[in-house]
Amino acid sequence: MFFKLTGEQSLNQERYRAFAQKVVKPLGEMMDENEKMDEGLLVALKKEGFLGIPFAEKYGGVGGTYLDYCLAVEELSKCDGSTGVTISVHTSLCCSCIDSFGTEDQKEKFLRPLVNGTSYGCFGLTEPNAGSDAAGQQTEAVYDESTDEYVINGSKIFTTNAEFADYCVVFAMTNKELGTKGISAFIVDLHTNGVKISPNIRRMGIRAASNCEVFYENVRVPAANRLSDEGNGFKIAMKALDGGRIGIAAQAVGLAQGALDIALAYVKERKQFGRPIAAFQTTQFKLAQMQTEIDAARLLVYRAATSKDDGEVYGPQAAMAKLKASAVANDVAREAVQLMGGYGYCREYQGERFLRDAKITEIYEGTSEVMKMVISGAMKVK
Ligand code: CAA
Repeated sequence: MFFKLTGEQSLNQERYRAFAQKVVKPLGEMMDENEKMDEGLLVALKKEGFLGIPFAEKYGGVGGTYLDYCLAVEELSKCDGSTGVTISVHTSLCCSCIDSFGTEDQKEKFLRPLVNGTSYGCFGLTEPNAGSDAAGQQTEAVYDESTDEYVINGSKIFTTNAEFADYCVVFAMTNKELGTKGISAFIVDLHTNGVKISPNIRRMGIRAASNCEVFYENVRVPAANRLSDEGNGFKIAMKALDGGRIGIAAQAVGLAQGALDIALAYVKERKQFGRPIAAFQTTQFKLAQMQTEIDAARLLVYRAATSKDDGEVYGPQAAMAKLKASAVANDVAREAVQLMGGYGYCREYQGERFLRDAKITEIYEGTSEVMKMVISGAMKVK
C-alpha cells in the first residue's frame, strides 16, 4: 500500500502542529502537576475548531476527514497526552455516536453544539464491574409511559471529560433478560437533576484529563434522547469504540514522537566521556529503532483512519493500530527516559511524563488483550 497525505491534509497537519507547539506545549508540565486541564486551553481548543474536525459543516463541524482528526490528536499528544484524549473522547466516542446513529432532530439539538465549539461531550459505558466485559452493564433505564421519559439509575466510572462536559452518551440496560441486545444508548444532559460527578480520579498518567465516576440517580431523560432503537446500544458502543481506538492509537503515536523528540534534543546537548552522547553509535541505533517503530505504528493509524474515511471495514485495522501504537508508545517512552539517564527520571525534563501517560493507551478504549480478541476474531481463528 502506498500512502501519502494530501496537500490539504499536510496543511491541516501544519496548522495543528503550530497550535500544539505554541499553545499546548508550554502548559503540559503545569497541567500535569495541577492534575487539571487549563481552562484557557479548553476554550482555545473550542475556538480553533478542534471539537468538530470530522463532522459535516451543515451541523457546524469543520467538514474534515477522520484522518485529519487523527493528525490533530497526534500533534496535540506530542505535547500533552491529556489534551489528546480530551479531544479524542469528545470526537470519536461522544460525537460519532450521535453523528452515526442520531436522528436529524438529535443532530440539530446535540451534535451542533458539540461540534461547533459550544460544548464538550463524554461517553458513559464502563462501570465499576463492567470494563472489558462491556456487556455486563448494571445501569438501568426504565421507560415511564406517563411522561415519555426513561429513568436512569446506576454509575459509570472513568468517564473522560465529565467535569466540564455538557452531554454524555450513556449506555444502560432497558431489558436485562436480553444481554447485549438489552442495552440502549441515551444522550444525557449532565446538568439534569440526579447526575452527580465525583472528583477527578487520581491517576498515574494523563493526570490533567478529567476522569470521574458519574452517578445517575433517578435521572429523567426524554425518550426523544434515545439513540436508535431500544436494544441497539451495545452495537452503537462497539462501533464508536472501533473509531475511538484509531484516535487513541493516534494519541499513542503522538506520545511516542513527543518522548523521542525530547530525548533527541537531550542527547545532542548532554556530554559524557568528552563528547555529546549522540555521537555514540549505541545512541544513534537506539534512536533509529525508536523512529522506525513510530513510523510503522503511524502508518497503521493512517491506514485505519483512511479505511474509515473510505467507508471500508476498519474495526480490525483500528485494533491493530491501537495494539501496535500503544506498545510503541510505552517502549519508546521507556527508552527515551533511559537515554536521558537520571535526568529522564526528573519531572523537570518531562520524559517521565510521557512514560506515565503512555501506559493508559494499552488499557483504555479496550485493553491490548481485547484488541487481540478483535483481531483474531476477524481472522476467524476459531
Ligand atoms: N461493531 C458492530 N457490532 C459489533 C461489534 C462491532 N465492532 N463488535 C461486536 N458487535 C456485535 C456482535 O456482532 C454481536 O451481535 P449479534 O449478537 O447480533 O451477533 C454483539 O455485538 C455481541 O458481540 P460479542 O458476542 O462479540 O460481545 P462480547 O460481549 O463477547 O464482547 C468485546 C466483545 C470485544 C470483548 C467487547 O465487550 C469489548 O470491546 N470490550 C472492551 C470495552 C471497551 O473498549 N471499553 C472501553 C470503554 S471507554 C473508555 O475507555 C473510557 C474513556 O473515556 C476513554
